[in-house]
Amino acid sequence: MRHLKIAAQADRRGGAEHRRRLLDGLTGRVLEVGAGQGRNFRYDPDTVDEVVAVEPDDTLRAVAEQKAASAPVRVTVVAGEAAQLPGHDGEFDAVVASLVLCSVDDPAGDLAQMARVLRPGGELRFYEHVRSPHRWAALLEDAITPLWRRAAGGCHPNRDTEATIRAAGYTITDIDRFGFSPTALAPNTRHVLGTARKP
Ligand SMILES: C[S@@+](CC[C@H](N)C(=O)[O-])C[C@H]1O[C@@H](n2cnc3c(N)ncnc32)[C@H](O)[C@@H]1O
Repeated sequence: MRHLKIAAQADRRGGAEHRRRLLDGLTGRVLEVGAGQGRNFRYDPDTVDEVVAVEPDDTLRAVAEQKAASAPVRVTVVAGEAAQLPGHDGEFDAVVASLVLCSVDDPAGDLAQMARVLRPGGELRFYEHVRSPHRWAALLEDAITPLWRRAAGGCHPNRDTEATIRAAGYTITDIDRFGFSPTALAPNTRHVLGTARKP
C-alpha cells in the first residue's frame, strides 16, 4: 500500500509528465515490462493498437487490471517476468521499460529478451532512475544499495542503465538526463528517459 502512495506522489510531482513523454508517439503493438499498477496505461496514445502488460506481482497486477479496464487503448495484463517475455520473436513494435530495470535481477539478459520480441527497427522506450554522475553521490548509492534492495522490492539505486542499454547493443536515438525527486523526502536522483532501437 505504501508503494502505491509513493508512486501516486511521484506522479503528482512530475512523474505523470515523464510517463506522457515516455509513451508519446508510440504506434502498433506494445509490450510493457513490469507494468506495476498500470500507471502508464492512461498515457498510451490512441495510435497504439494494443498493449500487453507483463507484471509478476499478484497485488500490483490486480490494480493494473482495474486500470486496464478504463485505459484509452486495449490493454491485456498478464503474469510474467522480464526474463521470459510472452510473444514470438519480432512480435512487438515497441517495448516499454518504466522504472523496472532498477529492480530486475539481470538487466542485460532482460534487455536481450526485450530485443527478441521487438521487430527489426522496433523501439525500446525507457524511463529509469540511474546511478548518479557525481562520484561521491554514486559511492553513497553503492553503500546504501544492499539495504535499499531489501527495503524497496529489489530496487538498485546505483545502476548505470544507460550504459547497460548500450552494452546490450541498442542504439539510443533520444535521451533526456535529469534530476528528479519522486517524493518530498526523497533526494534528487538522476533519471533517464528516452528511446533506443533494437540491436
Ligand atoms: C518501481 S515499480 C514500477 C512499476 C511501473 N513500471 C511504473 O512505471 O510505475 C517496479 C516494477 O518492476 C516489477 N518487476 C520486478 N522484477 C521484475 C521482473 N524480473 N520482471 C518483470 N517485472 C519485474 C515489479 O513487480 C514492479 O511492478
